[in-house]
Amino acid sequence: MKKYNGFKKLKTAIFISGKGSNFNNLIKFSFKKNSPIKIELLITNNYKAKGLKFAKKYRIRKKIYKYQDKFKTEKKIISDLKKNKIKVICLAGFMKVLSKNFIKNFRGKILNIHPSLLPKYKGLNTHERAIKNKDKISGCTVHFVNSKIDSGKIIMQKKVRIFKTDTPKTLKNRILRQEHMLYPKAIQKVFSSL
Ligand code: GAR
Repeated sequence: MKKYNGFKKLKTAIFISGKGSNFNNLIKFSFKKNSPIKIELLITNNYKAKGLKFAKKYRIRKKIYKYQDKFKTEKKIISDLKKNKIKVICLAGFMKVLSKNFIKNFRGKILNIHPSLLPKYKGLNTHERAIKNKDKISGCTVHFVNSKIDSGKIIMQKKVRIFKTDTPKTLKNRILRQEHMLYPKAIQKVFSSL
């Protein structure tokens, strides 16, 4: 049994839609002694998600949902999460919005990472918008998930300088590196006291 400070680690599901670099990073974090989470399940809406390879590599159970009907799909996901005794959900590049009903089932236990300094630039294309507006600073945010997009209570943020030479891609990569440091810290902050 994996333990954290003498307690059992919290069974966690990660939700992704794409590359999964945060997923990979959270897997590595979860192996550490000081991690309060153990990753039990990967959930995705995209059978082509590149991040699926990390589930294979680390033998993490995975579930792929077609998401044709949101209500029915969420019902299935909730049932799978309960079957697997999941206590914590970390969204990591999951591009679907969870319903109020879904969130009610895991109140205060769903975290998301977003590539901007919220409340600035909710939604998509955050880096393009920051550069277009000639911002000097951007960054990333870990927050609790509520039913409004990118709007839940902020847990932690990290600022990142924007350089004149930045393109959306260079900025994205620099922010992503900070995301990989911020998400574990935020998880520790929220769940170490449970
Ligand atoms: C990350 O930059 C994450 O902050 C962002 O998607 C990327 C996923 O990258 N999330 C959102 O935009 C959610 N609104 P990854 O698949 O390599 O972890």
